[in-house]
Amino acid sequence: MDANEVNKVAGAILGMLTLAMGIGFLSSGLMAPKPPAKAGYELPDNSATASSAAAPAAAQAEPIATRLATADLAKGETAAKKCVSCHQFQKDGKNGQGPALWGIVNKAKGAAAGFNYSAGLKDMASKGGKWDYEALDAFLTNPKAYVAGTSMGFAGINRADERANIIFYLRSLAETPAALP
Ligand code: HEC
Repeated sequence: MDANEVNKVAGAILGMLTLAMGIGFLSSGLMAPKPPAKAGYELPDNSATASSAAAPAAAQAEPIATRLATADLAKGETAAKKCVSCHQFQKDGKNGQGPALWGIVNKAKGAAAGFNYSAGLKDMASKGGKWDYEALDAFLTNPKAYVAGTSMGFAGINRADERANIIFYLRSLAETPAALP
């Protein structure tokens, strides 16, 4: 092999290498993996399943009328301590973060004078309706589910007997407590 031939072979190899590099460069540009718009994996949203799982449990509770018959006033007063950071219970109580609650049983919804209710509660109140035992029971189970967009920042009370005790106590906050159902 003379110098000329060596040069030719070297040239050919160099040429091939350049070509290979060029192709690699081009294809990496064309086929570059696109980063996903959202990091991580999509997880199945099972919130619907969770709430439909909770619903039968709530539906299984005895009706509020039955639970009120065995409700405990003292336990209700104790449990209602959960409310006092936002609500006043006494007669002539003032609105705080939440409206005053004296005489709330069977009172029209959204009717505490001077309280700025959420749009959701105003909307519900505009359709009429009062805080009867069933309404209070439903609201206290899950305030946000009962009044969409409520400003009551309270998760709710899962235990049906505890709700009955509280509602029994709320009933006592009146000159003449509402008749029991
Ligand atoms: C973190 C504050 C907060 C707590 C705790 C709280 N509430 Fe409320 N509550 C509110 C607010 C705010 C509203 C007004 C809701 C709206 O306008 O959507 C409200 C509204 C209400 C209403 C409707 C009153 C009306 O005039 O229509 C009732 C009944 C009620 N709460 C009962 C309770 C009871 C009973 C508890 C305790 C078990 C409780 N709340 C705990 C803030 C609270």
